[in-house]
Amino acid sequence: MQELFTKNTKVIFYNEHPVPIQAMLDYDWICAKSEPCVSAIINPKKSGFHKTFFGPKEILIPVFKTLEEAVRYDPKADVLINFASVRSSFESTKVALEAPNIRTVVLVAEGIPENQTRELIRLAKENKKWIIGPSTVGAIKAGAIRVGYSGGSSENIIESKLYQPGSVGVVTVSGGMSNEVYSIVNNNTDGVNEGVAIGGDTYPGSTLLENVMRLHDNPEIKMLVVLGEIGGTDEYEIADAIKSGKINKPVVAWVSGTVAELFPTEVQFGHAGARSGSRKVSAVAKNKALKDAGAYIPKSFNQFGYLIKKVFDDEVRKKKDYIPPTQVTPQIPALDFESAIRDGLIRRRTSIVSGISDDRGDKLTYNGVDIDKIVDKPLSYTINALWFENRLDETGMDFLELCLKLTADHGPAVVTAHNAITTARAGKDLVSSVVSGLLTIGPRHGGAINDAAKWQFECITNQIDSADFVKEMNSKGELIMGIGHRIKSIQNPDERVQLIKKFAKKNLKQTEHLEFALEVENETTKKKNNLILNVDGAIGAVFLDILKSNKYEDEEILELIEMELFNAIFLLGRTIGIIGHVLDQKRMKEPLYRHPWDDILYK
Ligand code: ACO
Ligand code: LMR
Repeated sequence: MQELFTKNTKVIFYNEHPVPIQAMLDYDWICAKSEPCVSAIINPKKSGFHKTFFGPKEILIPVFKTLEEAVRYDPKADVLINFASVRSSFESTKVALEAPNIRTVVLVAEGIPENQTRELIRLAKENKKWIIGPSTVGAIKAGAIRVGYSGGSSENIIESKLYQPGSVGVVTVSGGMSNEVYSIVNNNTDGVNEGVAIGGDTYPGSTLLENVMRLHDNPEIKMLVVLGEIGGTDEYEIADAIKSGKINKPVVAWVSGTVAELFPTEVQFGHAGARSGSRKVSAVAKNKALKDAGAYIPKSFNQFGYLIKKVFDDEVRKKKDYIPPTQVTPQIPALDFESAIRDGLIRRRTSIVSGISDDRGDKLTYNGVDIDKIVDKPLSYTINALWFENRLDETGMDFLELCLKLTADHGPAVVTAHNAITTARAGKDLVSSVVSGLLTIGPRHGGAINDAAKWQFECITNQIDSADFVKEMNSKGELIMGIGHRIKSIQNPDERVQLIKKFAKKNLKQTEHLEFALEVENETTKKKNNLILNVDGAIGAVFLDILKSNKYEDEEILELIEMELFNAIFLLGRTIGIIGHVLDQKRMKEPLYRHPWDDILYK
């Protein structure tokens, strides 16, 4: 009869299971096939494409919702590997058995009701089709195709040389044991030619004998290895076929489950069909019947490999017409990146280094501090962890809290608020409106803290006199960052600056930078009363004092100035107020803003 599986077999895969699909394609690759055996996939829920690898290359396999569409796409596909669930196996297999192009269905699901299986068997016989399974891992035609997960991992395929076509046909009931038997056969003969696991259900879609005969009729196969199981009577059919001469090639067999003899009561093993029951279906009785018929039966499973080797050497290898199979070199499939990384087989440089938080564990951590240790603390604890590597002391964190509150907002007239308001009134979304406000932060407004800290730090470090500093800046025509305000002045002091000075006086032993900044203010206000130390300048000076009190080295402070950390304080604080203005405008449903003509001087 025509072989079910060859190098050219094309398969339709029912249900998008990535692992067995990839396993089948990796086998194709190992056997140096020019194209993958899976030509289409059925996923009743969605059509499209399934991404997978053929060798090192990623490919797309079309996915259809129905078998009809899949068969229409590839009419040459004559095998359906059915990974449907128990619930949908019957219907999907029924459709396949009635489809003209499909000749074989490999049915993987376990637990299909017996009445459904028997109906499928009837249908298969009626349509002259094959069912392998249910409850099977599939079949493997060495060097040609593996249908399902038969043979196990690619590493196992390579190790047990299951890519190498040999002279032995293997038929087992159990899928798990089939991999074991393949390995035994490959270690003791010239290799498996084809192996099939019929599955352990009470009613297999095709019986042990039917598959033994199918392999027996293949001229490439010179001997058969059969692993039966306690329960059922299939093995007697093989014994009869040997006795009648229908099977005229050597058969080495073992029926597993002899251990049942040790139990005083009936035993149900893993497979539905593996039930001890009467004497007749016992493993001992069936092994005896096979032996009496002329099959080679080892004394125990442990002797299986030895006997397989002996029979192969005596009855196959020594034959004059024996031709050893051509040795095949396997094509090693590329390693899956994830598993290779997991197994330490490859390493890859990371693209990002992150030092402030880690969400991988059970608990989110900020710089190593569990989130639940921070949630009941003020926001400044979080900032300390995420900005300052937890180096600030309580005073430092308290100052952060103060700054966030003081910089949160300064009314709707300032540019940060104004931009946010007009953008919100232009109907823009929250983020765009907030960003529009934030974009006004810069050297003249809110973004002067950093540069203020810079001169304050340099003047203290280099012991520059405040009057000389102001004179020099004047002579260069440069503005002193952190000095000046549009509306605040000596006479109309900025309450926020007063609060910052009060905080420093109360909490800091050393306030050299603040004192210097106030000396500069003393100089500048001689020229104009609004050239006061503004909130930017005050934050810069006091935060320098705080960093010093937290033992920051000069180089570290210079680095923080370089990365503009000081401006970050105003940025975070003012974002609170900007969001407020946007929400306020949206709440009021304010219309588009248009600047009044009378407030514009047209040059
Ligand atoms: N340093 C030195 N001289 C100054 C400064 C300063 N920071 N600011 C203004 N002056 C001088 C000007 O050079 C000008 O002198 P002139 O009359 O000889 O030409 C005079 O004072 C008036 O200058 P204006 O720019 O008109 O003063 P204004 O009151 O508009 O300036 C401003 C206010 C924009 C804040 C200004 O002082 C400035 O740019 N300061 C530096 C940046 C800064 O610190 N910004 C933060 C402000 S607070 C905040 O945004 C939260
Ligand atoms: C602010 O905090 O926005 C101000 O100090 C600037 C201003 O113009 O009020």
